[in-house]
Amino acid sequence: MRIIKTIEELRPIVKGWRKEGLSVGLVPTMGYLHEGHKSLIVKAVSENNRVVVSDFVNPTQFGVNEDLASYPRDIERDAAVCEAAGADLIFHPEPEEMYFTDNCTFVDMDKLTKGLCGKTRPTHFRGVCSVVTKLFHIVTPDRAYFGQKDAQQLAVIRRMVRDLNFDIEIVGCPIVREADGLAMSSRNTYLNEEERQAALVLHKSLLLGKEMIVQGEQDAGEIKAAIVRSIETEPLARADYVEIVDPDSLETIDIIEGRALIALAVYVGKTRLIDNIL
Ligand code: PAJ
Repeated sequence: MRIIKTIEELRPIVKGWRKEGLSVGLVPTMGYLHEGHKSLIVKAVSENNRVVVSDFVNPTQFGVNEDLASYPRDIERDAAVCEAAGADLIFHPEPEEMYFTDNCTFVDMDKLTKGLCGKTRPTHFRGVCSVVTKLFHIVTPDRAYFGQKDAQQLAVIRRMVRDLNFDIEIVGCPIVREADGLAMSSRNTYLNEEERQAALVLHKSLLLGKEMIVQGEQDAGEIKAAIVRSIETEPLARADYVEIVDPDSLETIDIIEGRALIALAVYVGKTRLIDNIL
């Protein structure tokens, strides 16, 4: 498995694969890979002849007061994870390789990016859409793999691919959790022992909401209120948002009748964690 740092080196490799008639899968990541990322790579390997993992902490999706500088990085460990999962190549560019200093073109989206995480992170999805578009043009995959962990991101990418006619199949993959239910995330490394324990309140509260729906509760307001109360029982946790939305349009649901996504963001100490359940 090779680590490629430039677009110029990557393109002929992919073109060579295409000439041989091989299919190409792409798994976009920001690195510091865990079992969640690995599950995407393993799925991509099972469905494509060649798999590229991009490993790039994308500056344009971080807000000014966010954790761009402190975001964890470890390319050697990432390479070992990719190798073990059967990937063929890691694309690991420097920010200067991905963005011209005078870059002024972005891919942006209305509606789907305004609610949920978009409320407190107003420029986040512009950065995600822009970098994913660039990765799609650089790697030209047949399929690209995204986790349900970032449910809003998955819906946004699906919509972007539809609206802009990318000839790429978007494959959504289930959330991988720790044994105690905490959704795996590179940001879990920020948690101290006490916060790590407190973070269990996210999944626990989502399960409570799900159980209410299974029991027949249809009033989304009641369910959201119960989830907020559940989060408030944990002194180290503070809810940023709790929403119940349509999983595709991300529009708010008031009365639950069909498919529904419960999505939440919670501060545990200073760390903002997201989780969701369908
Ligand atoms: P990152 O947070 O590194 O996540 C890369 C991919 O792994 C995303 O599709 C995410 O949903 C998926 N993922 C993360 N944790 C997961 C888990 N516990 N179970 C299943 N999948 C999980 O998302 C990004 O990077 C960036 O925004 C990116 C798309 C790479 C653009 O920069």
